[in-house]
Amino acid sequence: MFKKLVFLVVIIDLIAGTLLAAKTVKLPEPKFSGKMSVEEAILRRRSERSFYPNELTMEQISQLLWAGQGITERTWGFRTAPSSGSLYPLYMYIVKKDGIFKYVPDGHKLIQISNEDRRQSLVRASLGQGYIGEAPLVIIVAGNFRIVEAKYGQRAYRYLNMEIGHVAENIHLQAVALGLVSVPIGAFWDDVVAKVLELPDTQDPFYIIPVGYFKGDQPQTQPADQLPSSS
Ligand SMILES: Cc1cc2nc3c(=O)[nH]c(=O)nc-3n(C[C@H](O)[C@H](O)[C@H](O)COP(=O)(O)O)c2cc1C
Repeated sequence: MFKKLVFLVVIIDLIAGTLLAAKTVKLPEPKFSGKMSVEEAILRRRSERSFYPNELTMEQISQLLWAGQGITERTWGFRTAPSSGSLYPLYMYIVKKDGIFKYVPDGHKLIQISNEDRRQSLVRASLGQGYIGEAPLVIIVAGNFRIVEAKYGQRAYRYLNMEIGHVAENIHLQAVALGLVSVPIGAFWDDVVAKVLELPDTQDPFYIIPVGYFKGDQPQTQPADQLPSSS
């Protein structure tokens, strides 16, 4: 009887281990150089709202998440975007065809939250902004306000919003440098998005950023030689 019980426990352990292992995805290492200068990425960035359905590669996804919250310093764990008091109260999630994943900066990996495609639920949560459902990758920046409030009190609201902007801009510029387009979306029902993403009670969603290949005649950005001169 005891032997049977031990056998059962071992089997359950093995199955649970396999399931847990399957839910963690190691991302490819990010690259630290590219073909486009930061100046050109700034020049070319435009909010675009039309995407081809082509899937992004894991390399592209890795690069975009690294740009938002990747660790760039080992001793203190500093990241790509500045953070008041190095509190790092922000979290990034991605929603795509094969499910919802949370980005874990430490180890540069993803943890799967769901295997359902919930992009249409995000469209409904965002007042029907249909382009969210077209994009092959939707990045959500969420955060824990209380972490910042505990240290900075009344300035927490301001600090958290500043930090979200840093993260989002890094993602937008990285998208451009990868030949992709994106748009920052702030108009949505917080509680509905939180439910769609299965966020813990401590986190609120702040930005929804669809990313993909631009489907349009031409990006709206003017070539440098056609920009109005300052004189
Ligand atoms: C805080 C914030 C919220 C925004 N929310 C939305 C949104 O919900 N939907 C949308 O299509 N664009 C949204 N945008 C994008 C703006 O419409 C866009 O940045 C603006 O038209 C300027 O164009 P550009 O980003 O191409 O320079 C938002 C931008 C910011 C900064």
